[in-house]
Parts: sequence; C-alpha cells; structure tokens
Amino acid sequence: MKNESYIEDIAKYKDQQLTISGWVYNRRSSGKIHFLMLRDGTGIIQAVVGINDVDNETFEKCKELPQESSLRVTGTAIEDKRAPGGYELHVNKIEFTHIADEYPITPKEHGTTFLMDHRHLWLRSSKQHAVLRVRHEIIKACRDYFDSNGYVLVDAPIFTPAACEGTSTLFETDYFGSKAYLTQSGQLYMEAGAMAFGKVYCFGPTFRAEKSKTRRHLTEFWMIEPEIAFCDLEGDMEIAEEFLEYVVQRVIEQKKSELELLQRDTSNLEKVHRPFPRISYDEAVAILKKGGLDFEDGNDFGAPDETFISDQFDRPVMIHRYPAAVKAFYMKNDPNDPSKALCVDVLAPEGYGEVIGGGQREDDFDTLIKKIQQHNLPMEAFDWYLDLRKYGSVPHAGFGMGIERAVSWICGLKHIRETIPFPRTISRLQP
Ligand code: 4AD
Ligand code: MG
Repeated sequence: MKNESYIEDIAKYKDQQLTISGWVYNRRSSGKIHFLMLRDGTGIIQAVVGINDVDNETFEKCKELPQESSLRVTGTAIEDKRAPGGYELHVNKIEFTHIADEYPITPKEHGTTFLMDHRHLWLRSSKQHAVLRVRHEIIKACRDYFDSNGYVLVDAPIFTPAACEGTSTLFETDYFGSKAYLTQSGQLYMEAGAMAFGKVYCFGPTFRAEKSKTRRHLTEFWMIEPEIAFCDLEGDMEIAEEFLEYVVQRVIEQKKSELELLQRDTSNLEKVHRPFPRISYDEAVAILKKGGLDFEDGNDFGAPDETFISDQFDRPVMIHRYPAAVKAFYMKNDPNDPSKALCVDVLAPEGYGEVIGGGQREDDFDTLIKKIQQHNLPMEAFDWYLDLRKYGSVPHAGFGMGIERAVSWICGLKHIRETIPFPRTISRLQP
C-alpha cells in the first residue's frame, strides 16, 4: 500500500474519483447525511456521506464513529467555495482502518500540562501543525542560506570530552568508564572545520542542564552554527543580520496561512531588514539606567533587561562587547578594552530575547591557554583545540542561533515548549 492522493492536492481531482486516507477530525449528522471532517496531515476536507450513496452498514458505522478513527474514503471531489480548501468529497465507499478509542483531546479547553502529557496526540491539532510547519521552513531557510553562500556542512559530535559553554549546565554521561558530556554547542568543532574549509556550519541538537524554569529555556534544543575563517566581529555581525533577514522574510513569504492561523501579526516581522541597530554593552546599560531599571553594571542581562532594551527598537538589535567576565573562555578580548569580549548577542523584538549569540574567537595560543586556566577547565581536553592556534591560526568568528527561540519569536508564542515536537525541560522527559 502506498497512499497516492492527499487533501492538499484536491484541486487536481476536480470532478474525479479519489481516495483520501486519513483520520476523522470531527463529524455531524443530519439524519440522511453524515458530514465527516477528515484530516490527512496535509489538510482538512469535509466528506459528505448520503444514506443512498453507501451500504447500510457503512452508513450506520459513520453515526458512531469516534474522533481520530482512521479510514480510507473514496468519492468525487466537488468544488464548493464555502468549504475549507474549496472542495468537498462526495463519498461512495469507506474502508474503516481502525475504530479509535475515545479520544482524550476534545475541542474543549485543556490545561497545558494535560496537553504536554499528550504531546504525541496533541501534534495532530491545527495550531501545532502550523507551528511545526513554520519550524520546518525556518530550518530549510537556515540551511539554504548557508548552502547557497558557500558554507560546507560539517556535523559536530554529540558526545564531547569538555565544556564549551561553562561547566554549570553540562549533562554528564558514562562513556565506557570515563566521563563524557552531551554537547552544549558544536562551535569548537566548527573552528576546526573553518580552518579546513574556510566557511562551515553545523546543525544539530545541543544540551544544557538548565536548572531553572523559564519560557525561553529547553534542556535539549537545536542550534545552527556557522564559523568563518578570516572574519572578525564586524564581519560576523554582517553575516548574522543578513542571515536573520533572509530567514524571517522567507518564512513570512512561504508560511502565510500558518502564521495567519496562529494569529501572528506579521507587520513587525516585515520590518526585519538590514541594517539592524548595533549598540555596545555599555550603551545597553545606559538605556537600562535611563529607563530606571535596577541593573548592576558588569552583569549579564536578565530577561526583563533584554525585553526593555529590545523594546527601544523596531527590529532585532545587536549588542556587542559584553564584559569578558560574563562570557565563555574562547572569546577574544577587545584590544581597545581588554575587559570586554568581541562578542555579539542578537535580541529579537517584542520581548523574545536572545536568538543569536556569537563573536570573534581567541586565536592566540598563549592567551587561550591562560583563558582555559582562568576558567578552571581541564587543559588536556583542549589539546586538539589548541592545535588550531599552532598550525596557521587566523582571526575567525561565528555564531549560533537557537531554532526554538526563532520559532517562538516568528510564531509569536508565549512559551518555547510548543516550538519543538517533543520538548525536554527540567520537569519534562515525557512523552
Ligand atoms: O549564546 P549561546 O550559549 O552561544 C553558543 O553556544 C555559541 N557557542 C554559539 C556559537 O558561537 N557557535 O547559545 C546560542 C543560542 C542562543 O542565542 C539561543 O538562541 C540558543 O542558542 N539557546 C537556547 N535555546 C533554547 N534553550 C536553551 N537552554 C538555550 N540556550 C541557548
Ligand atoms: Mg548567549
């Protein structure tokens, strides 16, 4: 068996017979006619079953058919402007594949915990469809951007011997009697890749043992990470803004109906065009102080700080040169002010927070050794990484974009948990 006809292609079958294979989404009856709302993953169609069009047993079965029962329905595609999708199916045959048990998710309101516990079923609903289709488009757009700009895909490992983004969020696992960690970022490996290919990127799952509950953090999330040889912080910011502009514009163009279903006001997304405003950390702090926020200079920004700063702008804002003390060991310090790192965070508008983090890497062997020591990281785990500073070291830079942060923002979701098919958070490992 191989399904050949899908609801999204219904117009091709105008006035012709076809078989739709799918699930009952909803149904109603008016005595002599049953109206079955069918979904097949590509769309929804109303199947009209008249008492004289099918055998008696089939007609009776339709009367009791539980939601999410699966079936194969044969009929004629009849144009009807009022119908969702513009067509109805006038049925003459039904094969019942499986009569479902009583479905736990009904059109009534359910709490988020209930829906998350039933995530494997909740994925069938139209809102989740829209979100995950937007996610798919975002991922395709990210890949297309790098693929069509000369970057080579270099996959980074998931098991790693050392921390990239600080030791406090490492997931540790036993690796044949020694310790391994789930990767927090593919970056260090991309640096090796950039020295081999010039421009590279990786895309894969990354892991952080985030111990607090927030709307923005998952313990398992997907990140796309480019890395470029012979590139400094300025160049990195140019790439980040061109990339983000491309992704956002492509998604609002390609996924109009999904964004409409999500009731996303896209007028703010339409403004995502270069150049993005660029401000230094010090300028961002001045904005917070002027706004009367209680912020201690030298700290990293919290969610309310990021929201306040991004509210000053109508498009993503790039904040560069944070205090080196709050950033990772691999960052290069600003030669004009060594207390600052040559890094950039891109904050999404509308309070969605940091979507991109990146910067220029420390490329000097001796300085990097000192940084590894200062951060109390195990030198032996970084042997290979230090080699990159021994054999043709060059200025290089890159960044990482968290896919789920981008999905949250572009879809206008309040919480990151709906941006990924099966979210993992401090309190959720099921389903
Ligand atoms: O800012 P981060 O920690 O940067 C890095 O990991 C760099 N090594 C990337 C690089 O330069 N190649 O994380 C990058 C992005 C953040 O901007 C955010 O979008 C996302 O990853 N992110 C998370 N998304 C969901 N849940 C979490 N717990 C996240 N932590 C980071
Ligand atoms: Mg960051």
